[in-house]
Amino acid sequence: MLFDSYTIKQVTFKNRIVMSPMCMYASDDTGEVKDWHHIHYATRAVGQVGLIIVEATAVTAQGRISPQDLGIWHDDHIEGLQRVVDSVHGQGSHIGIQLAHAGRKAVLETPIIAPSAIPFSETFKTPDEATLQQIQETITAFADAAHRAKQAGFDVIEIHGAHGYLINEFLSPLINLRNDEYGGDRDGRFRFLQEVVIAVKQRWDGPLFVRISAHEYVDGGLTPEDHVYFAGKLKELGVDLIDASSGGTFPVVPKTYPGYQVPFAEEIRTKANIPTGAVGFITEPEQAEEILQSGRADLIFLGRVLLREPYWVRTAASRLHTELKPPVPYTRGW
Ligand code: FNR
Repeated sequence: MLFDSYTIKQVTFKNRIVMSPMCMYASDDTGEVKDWHHIHYATRAVGQVGLIIVEATAVTAQGRISPQDLGIWHDDHIEGLQRVVDSVHGQGSHIGIQLAHAGRKAVLETPIIAPSAIPFSETFKTPDEATLQQIQETITAFADAAHRAKQAGFDVIEIHGAHGYLINEFLSPLINLRNDEYGGDRDGRFRFLQEVVIAVKQRWDGPLFVRISAHEYVDGGLTPEDHVYFAGKLKELGVDLIDASSGGTFPVVPKTYPGYQVPFAEEIRTKANIPTGAVGFITEPEQAEEILQSGRADLIFLGRVLLREPYWVRTAASRLHTELKPPVPYTRGW
């Protein structure tokens, strides 16, 4: 199944292997694409990854994790991103982009925002509690970014709702202490993500993924059960796939082992009846194949193994005794 194609909204990925979004911190204060990004992403396309998701890309300058983040907050960013899209398409892969706002985890000189004025840790800056106007501006920034992603030619958008960044902060009962309509019960805390999805969908009709942190690993924090509920609502809003990661809202490190997040993808897929992506310590082709064959997820997201081995997919095909399907650039002498 790993090498079966997969179609969402008329976009057909040639296999089920996705490059997980990974910040390269290789831009500068402009947020523009550099040579690094071209080489890095095109290399994984030559390596036959079906779908490459470009790293967390900031929808506002204030929403960057660092001053080296890629940006999509200005029309000037479109041209550089388009060249990355074209080089990946030129090698026969599809390409998505992760739209992100770092919230209270932004490490910037400027003021930063979050649902409530509580810092991530002692070493982080205390964010301003976002005003209703700032909330609306940020929702609009996600929608404008989606429009720019469309202009740049991306095939997929992934909204970053995980790892303790802004959207995740709104979802969390431990970080979002607001008593207006953007806080309170589950529906209140979900409202920000809901409005982001609705606004994005007004400017984007292609495949839409949402990455979530299915577990906060903290007493009283979000659990997979909450995310089954959120995923059901996201499905109703027209989201196509939940990319199930975990952690990052607090400085706690969960116990990790091969496939440790796969049960989250499985639970959400089964209980909310929505396609999911599995991610986290998936490194072996047989392991990836098992996840798909057992119906635990629909797509396999690979992170660090694709940093180490950009041609992992070609090796996996040979290990699983499969032929790569066209278009396969550069086959001579392989
Ligand atoms: C990441 N990860 C990540 N996740 C995300 O949603 N957006 C991002 O921009 C980043 N950035 C990032 C940078 C680097 C260098 C690493 C190693 C990781 C998390 C990543 O997408 C993935 O979920 C994890 O790495 C777990 O998968 P692996 O690496 O075990 O396959």
